[in-house]
Amino acid sequence: MKQKVVITRMIPDAAKEMLKKEADIFMWHSGDEPMPRDILLQEVADAAAIFTNVADRIDKEVFDHASKLKVVSTMAVGFDNIDITEANKRKIPVGHTPGILTETTADLTFALLMATARRIVEGMDYIREGRWKSWGTMLMSGQDISGATIGIIGMGRIGEAVAKRARGFDMNVLYHNRNRRPEVEKRLEARYCSLEMLLKESDFVVLLSPSTPETYRMIGEKELNLMKPNAVFINTSRGTNVDEQALYQALASGKIWAAGLDVFENEPISPDHPLLTLQNVVVLPHIGSASIATRTQMAVMAAENILAGLSGRKLNHAVNP
Ligand code: DGY
Repeated sequence: MKQKVVITRMIPDAAKEMLKKEADIFMWHSGDEPMPRDILLQEVADAAAIFTNVADRIDKEVFDHASKLKVVSTMAVGFDNIDITEANKRKIPVGHTPGILTETTADLTFALLMATARRIVEGMDYIREGRWKSWGTMLMSGQDISGATIGIIGMGRIGEAVAKRARGFDMNVLYHNRNRRPEVEKRLEARYCSLEMLLKESDFVVLLSPSTPETYRMIGEKELNLMKPNAVFINTSRGTNVDEQALYQALASGKIWAAGLDVFENEPISPDHPLLTLQNVVVLPHIGSASIATRTQMAVMAAENILAGLSGRKLNHAVNP
């Protein structure tokens, strides 16, 4: 009998077909409707694998309901939504999809940086609302990107890819990271500095740290107060890394100039989220890695991890030993 794979929402056909050949699949929905918690708990009872994503919480309760589970695979590089301690206790490998989404996420990070700095969304709204009556001397003036200083917090794969783009724009690159990266410093002419120094000196502060207990709300009132009044803050990592209320205050009071955000503490945010009342904020619905090619490849990688786990092989990309 084929083993059962629970897929918590629609995945591209390429990945679905790979899994179908080897397993019985239960795919919740043919769209992006999240799988209700009670159905997830019910369906994992006889499942050997869970194909998940950033939006599902795979916690102790899920593991407790899944006594036949052999592997969990997330279609993401971040895995903060999965209780790895619980997986380890049960010796269940957890797979993720590093590398493949690096360039795509760096592209989106830069797109958000440019859109925010040059007020792209605000400018379009201005025309749509019929407010454009004449050419204006200082109309929609923003911040220069070329020649500015970018401070990258979290110099991992995506950080490097953002730094590479920044160098192409003749930006000065500062970074802060758990470990110093001398090779990156040389290759990308990036300067390592303390978080405090980075916040004080950067025109653009780009947050790319993973979500861990140590990074929880690492950008709060104190950190925002250190930033320049012209600073643009970009977050394409995890919403939990930022104190959203403090960020709202900093933006509303003009302490910092603008923010571009792809992630939020509680996703999805509703249309009445306070940050959406501000003109100097550009928000996106967690689409950092969302190019058609990359999302398809991520799904295929996640499926490969599942197939390895089902047959007792080592996963290509496991987050736990
Ligand atoms: C990730 O891979 O962690 C992203 O946030 C999802 O695209």
